[in-house]
Amino acid sequence: MSDEQIRRAVCPGSYDPITLGHVDVLVRAAALYDEVVVAVLHNPAKSGTFTVDERIGFIERSLPDAVAARVRVEAFAGRLLVDVCRDVGADVVVKGLRGGTDFAYELPMALMNRHLTGVETVFLPGAPEFEHVSSSLVKEVAKFGGDVAGLVPDEVLAALTERLVRN
Ligand code: PNS
Repeated sequence: MSDEQIRRAVCPGSYDPITLGHVDVLVRAAALYDEVVVAVLHNPAKSGTFTVDERIGFIERSLPDAVAARVRVEAFAGRLLVDVCRDVGADVVVKGLRGGTDFAYELPMALMNRHLTGVETVFLPGAPEFEHVSSSLVKEVAKFGGDVAGLVPDEVLAALTERLVRN
């Protein structure tokens, strides 16, 4: 298959850190497209909870091998998503939607991105069991000693405890 024939999607986000809700969306995106580029978009002026390298490692190690073979994880700083899509040769963005609040947040971005370069956004309904799961919420719960097992990959669970609970 030539590069032009490959259907490539971008799954953008901060992934600070990846949750099992993200994993579900990445696995389903990889079933729909030939290649998925997980774009870890970060602001170099802001330090997240996890470094960009840590976030990338968590993502790579949380995907089943058969899926990981068609997924590439890359970091981008201070870039428009549409420019990232152009650079990696993707004409579609895939995002998970947990509900109406996500849709209200995502719709203007999807429309703006299409306005800018014509890139389309495909929304996948999030798995109901992860509807309440976000990176920020799992960090807050973990920080105060709450149990987020089953909501993030095991390695992330250990890292959250190490990073947040003891500080
Ligand atoms: O995980 P998040 O925080 O929901 O991800 C949001 C993200 C990084 C996907 C979004 O903020 C984004 O696309 N940022 C890149 C900059 C950009 O293109 N902004 C204009 C969007 S219309």
